[in-house]
Amino acid sequence: MSQGKRVGIVGAGNVGATVAYSLAMQGSCHEIILRDNKMDVARGKALDMSQAAAAIRSHTVVKVAEDMSDLSDCDVVVITAGSPRLPGMSRDDLLMINANITREVISDVAKYSPNAIIIMVSNPLDAMTYVALKESGFDKNRVIGMAGILDSSRMAAFIQEKLGYGGGQIRASVMGGHGDDMVPLPRYSTVAGVPLTDVLSDAEIEEIVTRTRNGGAEIVGHLKTGSAYYAPAKSTTIMVEAILKDTKQIHPCAVYLEGEYGFSDVVSGVPVMLGANGAEKIIEVTLNDEEKNMFKNSCASVQELIDSLNKNDFFKGE
Ligand code: LAC
Repeated sequence: MSQGKRVGIVGAGNVGATVAYSLAMQGSCHEIILRDNKMDVARGKALDMSQAAAAIRSHTVVKVAEDMSDLSDCDVVVITAGSPRLPGMSRDDLLMINANITREVISDVAKYSPNAIIIMVSNPLDAMTYVALKESGFDKNRVIGMAGILDSSRMAAFIQEKLGYGGGQIRASVMGGHGDDMVPLPRYSTVAGVPLTDVLSDAEIEEIVTRTRNGGAEIVGHLKTGSAYYAPAKSTTIMVEAILKDTKQIHPCAVYLEGEYGFSDVVSGVPVMLGANGAEKIIEVTLNDEEKNMFKNSCASVQELIDSLNKNDFFKGE
């Protein structure tokens, strides 16, 4: 058992590697263990990052897991493994491919890091969080999906662009699943405490809402051979740090619902308090009828994916 905090990262592609780099640069933990099927790529990135950490006199060391069993005794394990979303591919197309990858990875994580908090990043995010929860057998507070921070950050960036001021003072709020029917909440979005509805017109807000929903696809459209990773990685890092530092701060994350917001046995994005025990508390925000309806539609989309996994007997034998 290592003395400092250990973070495991499964998948050393753009998102996983950028999470590792960001954590190393902030000295957030003692050790980062990178796991990837492409061993040499993982080795190269780990060495490179350890050297960057040395350059800034950070104590963080980045290592490679030669085998899943090296991913032992981690405090937090981030799962980015999966097939990437390519142009023209919806997040949902990835369902079966990534459900199988998630199952395989999670069973090892549960075996070698039985006390870890798992942060899911692979798409389709909410369904993969559900798979990880079922597959790990962990309590629901220990399996959390990253997406709400990303989607809210995108909305905040679009608000800033539209306003031309207020950078760093914008609090944007997005709930629901990380899909095309996510639920941006202008009513709960502010600029230095001023409601968005006081500084932008309805049409401008609508434009921001639409652009937020398409935020991932917009970047795929530019990159052409891959998807976003700086903001997804930074959003993940924020969650890892909140857990390692036990901040008890509220962040929008994807968690398993058991009656909250009127939904059960499904994963969706809601505000949660993050601490050493993971998603320690789900906050229930008052939604109006229109917002409730959007949240319902978003949960229904995630439910469809879960149903489709069930139809394919994915959870058979559990
Ligand atoms: C995104 C994709 C990766 O939102 O889900 O960028």
